Amino acid sequence: MTDTTTASTAAGGPDGPDRSDAPASRLSARGLTLSYDSRTVVDGLDLDVPDGRVTVVVGPNACGKSTLLRALGRLLRPRHGAVLLDGRELDRVPTRAVARSLGLLPQAPVAPEAITVGDLVARGRQPHQRWWQQWSEADERAVTDAMDSTGVTELADRAVDELSGGQRQRVWIAMALAQETELLLLDEPTTYLDIAHQVEVLDLVRRLNRERGRTVVMVLHDLNQAARYADHLVAMRGGRIVAQGPPDRAVTAGLVREVFGLEAVVVPDPVTGGPLVVPGAPAPAAPGAPASVPVSTRKATP
Ligand SMILES: Nc1ncnc2c1ncn2[C@@H]1O[C@H](COP(=O)(O)OP(=O)(O)OP(=O)(O)O)[C@@H](O)[C@H]1O
Ligand SMILES: [Mg+2]
Repeated sequence: MTDTTTASTAAGGPDGPDRSDAPASRLSARGLTLSYDSRTVVDGLDLDVPDGRVTVVVGPNACGKSTLLRALGRLLRPRHGAVLLDGRELDRVPTRAVARSLGLLPQAPVAPEAITVGDLVARGRQPHQRWWQQWSEADERAVTDAMDSTGVTELADRAVDELSGGQRQRVWIAMALAQETELLLLDEPTTYLDIAHQVEVLDLVRRLNRERGRTVVMVLHDLNQAARYADHLVAMRGGRIVAQGPPDRAVTAGLVREVFGLEAVVVPDPVTGGPLVVPGAPAPAAPGAPASVPVSTRKATP
């Protein structure tokens, strides 16, 4: 296991964590081991989610990303170790307090049958309600705001199960936003979305972070989107964190090889100057086909 980026950034050097430099963290994991029956999926994992930052978790299929997120959102109990919220074991924090601090959008959420978009988004307000309290102006504002910012207002009266995959995904994001939690855990929020809506959702997440100070942890598959939108990148493989840190330090050809087993080159992103991963082993040409010429050496056509 290489952990060089961690060693040079979050952990503060080879002598161990330098707590004075470490960003504050309301949400963390200590020695977290997660299992399904007898099968361990996440093994002894430590993580400090930096407050007020966007953390993106990347890694190959089945490496334990969703399992980790579910445990951070208290949908899964640790086999060993703990998730800490404000220094308290998550299991010991009252459910309502967890739900007011932490919103989780799972990878494959299931909506109640025949529920409308408006009603589903409104369910995000449940942690804020009491049995003696009417639906408040604050509830209304939060729902309207969440639906506006995800572009689902016109869908309010439609049944969720009649929507396209991308529309449905935005409705779920609206529900998570309506919960108005300081910590937001999003498992692949861009799945099913076309490229314009992917960028829209990621920009929205960043705005929530930059303008409203929300702490975000999200799982993304696209390494280049991860590099663009993460302040803190966490790379997992086989249930462990193999590297973490700011993307411009964490994303290297070595990391891509180690985590995904993929040869790649990392070049400056022409838009942001950050790292851009380009899979780097060209496919052999088909027999008899002319050799391909790298774009940079092609002559301009008149
Ligand atoms: N409810 C479950 N019961 C049993 N095994 C599970 C369950 N959920 C996940 N697993 C297993 O745990 C491992 C990790 O799954 P997880 O969903 O955390 O992976 P992931 O990194 O999110 O993958 P993906 O990128 O495909 O979403 C996989 O081998 C998976 O089969
Ligand atoms: Mg997953």
